[in-house]
Formats: sequence, C-alpha cells, structure tokens
Amino acid sequence: MAKMKTTLLVCIHRRFTDEASCGGRGSEGLLERLEAEVARRGLAVKVEPIRCFSRCLTGPVVRIAPGGAFFEGVTEEQIPVIVDRLAAAAEEES
Ligand code: FES
Repeated sequence: MAKMKTTLLVCIHRRFTDEASCGGRGSEGLLERLEAEVARRGLAVKVEPIRCFSRCLTGPVVRIAPGGAFFEGVTEEQIPVIVDRLAAAAEEES
C-alpha cells in the first residue's frame, strides 16, 4: 500500500444549526488562504478539505497528515506558522 503524501487537511464541515462547526467559523475562507500560501511558496503538498475531525468545539481545525499536528482555533495570523510546519513535514518525507 502506498504511503500517504504530506497533506494539509482543513475541516470545512458546516452545520446549519446552532452547533459549533469549523465551516461556521469561516474555515472555507481559511482553506482558500492556506491553498494560496502553499501555492505562493511552491510547495509540492496537497491541501484538502475534510468533513470533521470530531473537534468541533475548538474549530477551525487543521491537521498535517499523515499523523501530524492538529491546529485548533486557527486564525489567519497562524497561516505562516502552519505552512512552515507543513513544509518541514514535506521535507522530512523526501
Ligand atoms: S466541524 Fe470541524 S472538527 Fe467538527
């Protein structure tokens, strides 16, 4: 079985109730900004939307996969740090 390539998973799940969700806290826009930063840096990694890490109360939630760190309550200001960590994970993989 092929090993998963380094990927940034971004929860974009949105609930149409009063319950907490990453999508309800603006994670779709966060996904776009993370994709743009990865492209700007020319990183050969994927950025993919995902539907819920079961950490909904602390969203938006982002994870470096496979097996990497979770980032919770992510803000736009954290994007450079997250992409730095993503680049380091990709470097380790190669
Ligand atoms: S809605 Fe994002 S972790 Fe559940």
